[in-house]
Amino acid sequence: MRMVDLIEKKRNGQLLNKEEIQFIIRGYVSGDIPDYQISAWLMAIYFQGMLAEETAELTLAMAQSGKQIDLGKYGLHCIDKHSTGGVGDKTTLIVAPLVAACGVKIAKMSGRGLGFTGGTIDKLEAIPGFHTELSEEAFLKQVADIGLAVTAQSADIVPADKKLYALRDVTGTVNSIPLIASSVMSKKIAAGAQGIVLDVKYGSGAFMPDIEQARTLAEIMVDIGNKLERKTIAILSDMNQPLGNAVGNSLEILEVVDSLQGTGPADLLEVCLLLGSWMLIAAGKTDCVGEGKRLLQKALDSGAAWQKFCQLISAQKGDLLKVQNKELFLAPYVKTYQAPEDAFIQNIDAGLVGRAAMMLGAGRETKESTIDFGAGLVILKKTGEKVLTGESLLKIYTSDAQKAESSMDILRKALVLGQERPVLPMANTIVV
Ligand code: URA
Repeated sequence: MRMVDLIEKKRNGQLLNKEEIQFIIRGYVSGDIPDYQISAWLMAIYFQGMLAEETAELTLAMAQSGKQIDLGKYGLHCIDKHSTGGVGDKTTLIVAPLVAACGVKIAKMSGRGLGFTGGTIDKLEAIPGFHTELSEEAFLKQVADIGLAVTAQSADIVPADKKLYALRDVTGTVNSIPLIASSVMSKKIAAGAQGIVLDVKYGSGAFMPDIEQARTLAEIMVDIGNKLERKTIAILSDMNQPLGNAVGNSLEILEVVDSLQGTGPADLLEVCLLLGSWMLIAAGKTDCVGEGKRLLQKALDSGAAWQKFCQLISAQKGDLLKVQNKELFLAPYVKTYQAPEDAFIQNIDAGLVGRAAMMLGAGRETKESTIDFGAGLVILKKTGEKVLTGESLLKIYTSDAQKAESSMDILRKALVLGQERPVLPMANTIVV
């Protein structure tokens, strides 16, 4: 087999079979096939797409490119959750303790942020001392002991995705349904959870621009998971405006604390309760969303979910006192943006907000960039709210005054004001 023939085959819109896909993935991971040929192949997929069975074969080949964890072998039945990425998306840190407090085991491998979307591991590293790199043994022991562990994905799990994702990021090929589906599902399959709940986001702050494309992506991933005997469910959720109010690592952890103490933003809690109920359904704890939400609300109201989060921090050596006292580092240069007129907020473009937060220092422009955990912004008024002249609409935090000016320019564009009361986006209730 020659890689150039397989590139041409895909370029011409033909199907690749299992052996061909395995040849490509094995060759890329071993270093026999160079980046430039894989780049051409990725671009051919970007334009020609893949059929569902090709995407499933690609997912399997990627999952098999490294170590696969068999949680069942350790007597663990776990439920996993994955978001396709968004702005202000701190749901894992709320949902995981909530669901674990209801007696479901969560062995969560999470990623770092890249570009304008954030990553759970970066958010956790805003907690001084928190260990995000657990050995497999320590990870599984913690899941068995307290029902919950969150670790960065180790290098030996789905090495194909690590290489492919980095290449997609610099070749304009991230935004492709078969490539996203195989990237997400290969990691979920290799991580070994028996149930998977996917949060597929759509809108300006997501990889899928609209709900139709999000549904197509969700259906492909659900199909792959269920065929491999993992109970897989997806919800489609709105990412046209940032989720919750905080964007940036320390700020988001503070919002997680508020949410677990019952004072978090309503839109964030709504998505968390929906995701959490489907996780309870996947675990067999209930068979309906209403009952799931009731169980989760009980875990929230009783303080059990907050206690579970505290247990997670202590188990992974984070400074619990700093979190309990809400004393995380925040960048010193603070500026607010005030409403120039009486108006309604028509829209808050999540993609632009994500870019502004990255510019403030909260995200990575390249894989090598370092993050300022204290940088970011807090949105004080959300879409649909009426604001009066001079009222504060958002607050930014940065360590670099120059960055404040350029990101404020972006944020002024992101926050669209108008005289009409806008129609609010529909609720996140679509389940695939
Ligand atoms: N999240 C992933 O894990 N992979 C993608 O390709 C996009 C979002």
